[in-house]
Amino acid sequence: MMMQRSYIAGSGSYLPARRVTNQELSETVDTTDEWIVSRTGIRSRHIAADGELTSDLAYEAAIRALEHAQTDVDDLDLIIVATTTPDQTFPATATKVQARLNMRHGAAFDVQAVCSGFIYALSVGDNFIRAGQAKTVLVIGAETFSRILDWEDRSTCVLFGDGAGAVVLKVDPENSAGSGANARGILSTHLHSDGRYNELLYVDGGPSSTQTTGHVRMVGKEVFRHAVTNLAAVVDEALDANDLGRPDLNWLVPHQANKRILDSTAKKLGMSEDQIVVTVDRHANTSAASIPLALDEAVKDGRIQAGQLILLEAMGGGLTWGASLVRW
Ligand code: UT7
Repeated sequence: MMMQRSYIAGSGSYLPARRVTNQELSETVDTTDEWIVSRTGIRSRHIAADGELTSDLAYEAAIRALEHAQTDVDDLDLIIVATTTPDQTFPATATKVQARLNMRHGAAFDVQAVCSGFIYALSVGDNFIRAGQAKTVLVIGAETFSRILDWEDRSTCVLFGDGAGAVVLKVDPENSAGSGANARGILSTHLHSDGRYNELLYVDGGPSSTQTTGHVRMVGKEVFRHAVTNLAAVVDEALDANDLGRPDLNWLVPHQANKRILDSTAKKLGMSEDQIVVTVDRHANTSAASIPLALDEAVKDGRIQAGQLILLEAMGGGLTWGASLVRW
C-alpha cells in the first residue's frame, strides 16, 4: 500500500485581547523589564479574560484555519487539541471545539506533551493521514497557561502567556510518501521523551495526586541546558531522515520559550537571525500554542513561500521534545 503524505492546507491563530507588558507586570511582581528582556527576549504577553477558556481560544484559531484552508467542517475527520490547560479534567477540550463547530461526526481528542504538544499532535494527525484513517485533520495548540502560574513566583510567572494556533492537515493525493523531499507536505516528524526529568518542569498538582490543579514549577537553568542539546540532536535527526542538510533550510519556526534558546539553535544550524520566526517578544511562552501562532504569522505576512523548507521544533515538560520538516 502506498502511504499518502499530508500537507498543511491552511493556518489560523488567536490571541486574547488583553496585552500585558513587562512594565505592567513589574507593578505586582518583584521583577523588571530589563531582567525579563535580557534573560528571555520577552516584552509582553496576552492573558485570557475571566471566563475565556482554552476551548474559546482554540475555537477562534480553528475557524480562522478552516477559512484559510477553504475547508468545510463537514470535511473534517478528526480534531486534535494539544493543551496542558484543558477547560476540564475531562472531557477533552477537543470535544468542546467539536461541539462549537457543530461537527457531529468523526472524532476529537487531546494530546498532552506540554510545550512539545503541537509537534506531537501534528505527528499524530500526519500519521492518521499516512495510514489512510483520515483525510482531513484539524490540529490545534491552545493554552491558558496564565491559569496554572504561581503569580508569587517571579522565576516562572513572567515567562508565559495565553493563545492558540491551528492548522488544517489534508491528504495530498498528488504526493505519495515516496515522492521525495522536494514535494509538498510534512516530510517527517520525530518525537522524543525522557520521563526521568519530570522534576525539572512540572505542575505540583493533579486529579490523582492532590485533587488540585497545581502550579508550574521549573528548574529554568537545567531545562535551558537540556533544550539546547536535545533540540540540536532532533534537528539533525530530522534532516538526516530526509537526506537534507542544514543549508537546505529556509525557515526555523521554533517553540518560543526564550530568545536565547532560539538564537543558540539557529547558530548551531548556521541560519541567520532573519530566518527564525520570532514571536516570543510579543507572546512570551504559550506552550503548545507557540509554534502554530508563529507559523500562522509568517504564512500570513508572506515570509513563508511555496516550495520552501520549514523546520518546526519544540521541547517541554516531560521532558518531551520533537521536530518536523515541512516542504511548504
Ligand atoms: O517551554 C518549556 C521549556 N522552557 C524553557 O526552555 C525555559 C528554559 N530556561 C530559561 O529560559 C531560563 O533559565 C530562565 C529565563 C527561566 C532563567 O534565566 P537564567 O539566566 O537561567 O536565570 P536564573 O534562573 O539563573 O536566575 C538568575 C537570577 C536569580 O537571582 P540570584 O539568585 O542570582 O540572586 C533569580 O532569583 O535572577 C533572579 N530572577 C529574577 N529577577 C528578576 C529570577 N526570576 C526573576 C525575575 N525578575 N522575574
